[in-house]
Amino acid sequence: MKQQAIGVFDSGVGGLTVCRELVRRLPQESFLYLGDTARVPYGTKSPAMVTQYAFEAAEFLCRQGIKLLVVACNTASAVALPRLREVLKVPVVGVIEPGARAAVAGGGRRVGVLGTEGTINSRSYEQALHKLAPQIAVFSVACPLFVPLAEEGWGDHLVTRQVAEEYLAPLLAKNIDTLVLGCTHYPLLEAAIRAAVGPDVLLVDSAASTALEVAELLHNGSIAADPGCGDQRFYVTDVPTRFKRIGSGFLGAELQSVEQVHIG
Ligand code: DGL
Repeated sequence: MKQQAIGVFDSGVGGLTVCRELVRRLPQESFLYLGDTARVPYGTKSPAMVTQYAFEAAEFLCRQGIKLLVVACNTASAVALPRLREVLKVPVVGVIEPGARAAVAGGGRRVGVLGTEGTINSRSYEQALHKLAPQIAVFSVACPLFVPLAEEGWGDHLVTRQVAEEYLAPLLAKNIDTLVLGCTHYPLLEAAIRAAVGPDVLLVDSAASTALEVAELLHNGSIAADPGCGDQRFYVTDVPTRFKRIGSGFLGAELQSVEQVHIG
């Protein structure tokens, strides 16, 4: 059990930003990553459809023999996490609660949340933040243009800066002190987002606190891998070449091999 891999899934390349943090914090662990590139984006789909996709991805990874599952996709975490936790036999970690914890730990009182339409419509960040700190004021904006801009590698492009200014204007009008980057892709747009919000707003993403939660679960369940060097395997449901090309920017390292699989 201890030497089994940790499963990680996302709708595509974005979850590699979470995988990067997991590998950094837990270098002894092995990871199986699935990007559902045939059906990305999840952010514009209905909760029922995203839940179905999430189950297919999770069941594929469970069939490979994993000891823990990380739902790296904010949209899938927002709509499918309770059901996945009910049904699956392995511990399941999402990214919403860790993101909310990081925002509260940073002392946020007026918190902005950016995410996909699915994540924002679910109000799951708002609920997670209010569960931790009921007095916090939460203001949310869906940013559908951010995902393609991140995948295009336009992290600090003029166009991205203009789009960021548009999306962030209503949040700045609310005097936010903290901004949650509630989507796997947004850490890659940090420069443009920072330029739009100025130096004083705390930017928070879920990756580091998700990795911390996974480390704690492994430790508490006595299922952490023995010291040594883990490996990573990457699966996608379509176009592995694109995933490999774009993914290195998200992972911060070259992806050695990417295998196409059928999961539906
Ligand atoms: N991975 C998704 C998320 O974090 C963004 C991309 C998509 O819409 O599928 O919400």
